[in-house]
This record gives sequence, C-alpha cells and structure tokens, in this order.
Amino acid sequence: MKPTIVITGAIPAVATSILSNDFEIVEHPPEGPRTEEELITMLAEADGAITRLTDPITRRVLQSNPTLQIVSNYAVGYNNIDVAAARDLGIVVTNTPGVLTETTADLAFALILAVTRCLIKADRDLRASGKVYWNPNGWLGHSLTGKTLGIVGMGRIGAAVATRARGFGMNVVYTRRRESDDAAAYGRKMPLDELLAVSDVISIHCPLNEETRHLIDQRALHLMKRTAFLINTARGAIVDERALARALATNRIAGAGLDVYEEEPAVTPELFGLDNVVLLPHIGSATIETRDAMARLAAQGIVEFFRGQMPANSV
Ligand code: DGY
Repeated sequence: MKPTIVITGAIPAVATSILSNDFEIVEHPPEGPRTEEELITMLAEADGAITRLTDPITRRVLQSNPTLQIVSNYAVGYNNIDVAAARDLGIVVTNTPGVLTETTADLAFALILAVTRCLIKADRDLRASGKVYWNPNGWLGHSLTGKTLGIVGMGRIGAAVATRARGFGMNVVYTRRRESDDAAAYGRKMPLDELLAVSDVISIHCPLNEETRHLIDQRALHLMKRTAFLINTARGAIVDERALARALATNRIAGAGLDVYEEEPAVTPELFGLDNVVLLPHIGSATIETRDAMARLAAQGIVEFFRGQMPANSV
C-alpha cells in the first residue's frame, strides 16, 4: 500500500507531481489557518504531512495519529511545530531552508526602501489627487547611503540583506549568537542594545523561539534612535506589536515595515491608522520561483524519508 501524504493547504503543483507515483495524496484547499481540531481530523489517516506555517502542529496534534511519521513544513521557519514533542514521538520534521533566502532579503529591502522613501504614501497621494505636482518639500524620505543597517540575527537571510545594504552604501552591524568568520565579513558584531542605539534601520532575521519572543519590546524600542526604522520579515512575535504601535503613534521611532504579525491572521488595529508603517501580508517568499522551490524541497523531504534516508532538511 502506498503511504498517505496529507497536504494541509494546496501548495504549488510541483509537490504533487513529485509525490503522485509513490504516494496517496490528500490535498486540502488553501484555506486560512487551521485549528488543532481541524488538523487532528485532517491528519487522522496520514503517514506523512506537508504543513504550512499557519498550522499549529502541537503535541496534541502529533499524538493524535500513531501512523504519522514525518511532518514536512512548507516554510523555513518551524515555530508552528512542537519539535520537542515530535522528537519524543519519533516523528521527523523537515523545513525548506536556502531556497527563500534571496527572495526574503529582496522583500526586506523593498520594505526598507518603501518606509525610508515614503513610497506607499506617495502612491496613495497621487491616486487621490489624480495629478503629479513636483513638490520641493513633499514626500521627503531619508537617504540610505552612509547610514547604518542593524541586522538582528545574521544568518543566511540576514547576510543576504547585508549584501544588498552594501550595494546601497550602508554600514552593517549585526547580532548573532555564534561567532562566524563569514558573518564578520559583512560588518561589526555587537550586543543588541548597542545595535539598537547606533542603527538607522534595524532588520530582524532571527528565528522565533522562547529566547526571541518580544526581543523587541518597549524597552528595546526606546533604545532606538527617534529617526530609526524597524523592519520585520521574520516572525511577528519577535516584536511586541502593541508596544511598536505605541512607539509609531508617538513618533518614538520614525517608521516600520512589517511583513509578519504577532498573532496572524490578526493585526494590531492601531497600526491601520498610522502613516509611518507599511503593512504587507506575509509575502516574504512569495515569488513563483521560490514557492515552486519550496514545494519541491518539501516533497523531497517526504521522498527521502520513505526511501529510508534521514531527509537532508530535517531539523
Ligand atoms: C518561512 O518560510 O518561514 C516564511 O515565513 C514563508 O514565507
């Protein structure tokens, strides 16, 4: 009998084309976040699953199905999965590292440009007036050349953002848990508090875990320059979103660009009323090429596992 693979929400077709010969595939529609109950029902017959970052793969979900052997997360981040529980239960977990590095770095840089150059407001104003008046004092942003970019978490994506920053003539400083000669080539490593104080733009690229939850809280926001911008394309809960909304509303910092939110799908309502924040709907990896590559990697993890190998991308 072919093993059954449940895909909790449709992903690019390349995944099913890799799996269709050797597996029974049950693919669910691409609906919003699932509850634990829905996932328990969905995974009841599964031998393996391809899950999304919005699926809470808790101990309860993992325990509910004794046939489940592998969870392949269609994302590089896997904070939605209780990995310790998976280990206890002997369930392998894989993710999709590497293939979304450049795409996510592009989006982080797009947000840096959008917030520092008032792009979204300028677009809105043009549409509202229907005319273009060159205005010597209008939509004045901030130049990037010579400014300092602080990267919180100099891993793969952080380094790709640093590469872009150098192209724009920025200085780079960073935090990183472990020493790395590769990272040192991009700029100076420093403690978070110092980075917050010296940076003109701060871009977050660390994973979400118990150490990084609310790493950027009210205290951290108050260490930032009043003229500084905060960019988050990593995970929403690394930032205390309410504290950020207050800091933006009171101009404690100059602005923010967000692609991720503390309690997705919800967004702190106060953010909607603010002009100094650009809000994107978690599209860091959203290019056709990257999503295909992620789907391929997610499917490969399943193939490797059922061939008896430990998947290259197991976490
Ligand atoms: C990931 O893979 O973790 C991203 O957030 C998806 O875009």
